[in-house]
Amino acid sequence: MIVNIRDLREAARRRLPRFLFDYVDGAAYDEKTMRWNEAAFDRWRFRHRVLNDMSERRLGASVLGADQALPLILAPTGFAGLLWPRGEIAAARAAEAAGIPFCLSTASICSIEEVRAATKAPFWFQLYVTKDREITKNLIARADAAGCSALVLTVDIAMRANRERDARNRFTARSAIGLSSWIDMVTHPAWSLAMLRGPKAQFGNLASVQAAGAGIMSQGEFVARNMDFSLDWKDLDWIRAQWKRKLVVKGVVHPDDAARIVDAGADAVVVSNHGGRQLDGDVPTLDALPAIVERVGTRVDVLFDSGIRRGQSVVKALALGAKGCLVGRAFLYGLASAGETGVAQAIAILKDEIDTTIAHIGVADVLDLARRRDEFLLGA
Ligand SMILES: Cc1cc2nc3c(=O)[nH]c(=O)nc-3n(C[C@H](O)[C@H](O)[C@H](O)COP(=O)(O)O)c2cc1C
Repeated sequence: MIVNIRDLREAARRRLPRFLFDYVDGAAYDEKTMRWNEAAFDRWRFRHRVLNDMSERRLGASVLGADQALPLILAPTGFAGLLWPRGEIAAARAAEAAGIPFCLSTASICSIEEVRAATKAPFWFQLYVTKDREITKNLIARADAAGCSALVLTVDIAMRANRERDARNRFTARSAIGLSSWIDMVTHPAWSLAMLRGPKAQFGNLASVQAAGAGIMSQGEFVARNMDFSLDWKDLDWIRAQWKRKLVVKGVVHPDDAARIVDAGADAVVVSNHGGRQLDGDVPTLDALPAIVERVGTRVDVLFDSGIRRGQSVVKALALGAKGCLVGRAFLYGLASAGETGVAQAIAILKDEIDTTIAHIGVADVLDLARRRDEFLLGA
């Protein structure tokens, strides 16, 4: 029975081959930061309030100048289309139905155009920058043509990450699928049959790039070879000049970086450590959030992610000044277990938890959480 995100995680674990579950569930090295991200929420405690007429509550948020039904965004995640056939479309549709933005990753299976064709609401596009800037320029132009409302530049990937579960499972760009992966797939027949029946997996956004070759293995190697680790502040200026709509910079935990990003003309920053998937030992994002809100919160929207598995955590992040929260694994577990229905279920679970939590703390409108924090939140 599924009552919370942890149950969805179990369902995903049962359905996915091990190498894919570990890819979603795992993080860098000892996975300390991933654990700390979640644990950081426990250092803040609610103090419930009473007799405040909580018969009507409002969960709507305003992010990047647009109204949305909940203070949530589906985070950009590579390979989502390997968890469920056309997984990015399934997730985008569930987000659209729930009235929240979906962010498509550069490393998605479905292309920008496929997601555009399958949905009506504007979605966000997350950009990884390649050494060959023509590819990057082309991706930006395609996101523009698809009417994407925001471009999300992810900046916490100074170098490739070392995720030891992936290395052990040989799920890395450079390793061919070994015998153990085949056994892994055969012993998870529901997933394997669904993937066999679905379209052939590839990096949809690279299908038109000749040099990347055809098929996910060749394209994966191409991406690994061509990620541009020389990215610096000049590139941020270059991207700002290319993109006229909202620019979001994702992967910031230092207030000085946030300030410089805002000076460069970004419209929002995402306080994120990539869910602990990059730098192990990095500060949990909830600890980094207040100083960034203090520094740039009056100039831009400060968004938040990493470690959200409960609506209660969303309430705490909003109380500490975030305008909205991205969720990664929480929706991927739903996607892996039941496609679009599973993503809808993940969003509904978080929504219900946010709703009951604000009622108990006596704040009827999520937009009031930050202003009234001292009434219901006890500090770390
Ligand atoms: C399987 C997986 C793939 C991801 N791929 C990307 C990606 O392609 N681009 C990106 O900016 N972030 C990526 N992320 C990071 C998420 O956008 C987000 O920052 C992170 O999942 C938040 O942590 P959470 O999973 O604890 O919610 C990925 C995360 C996961 C779990």
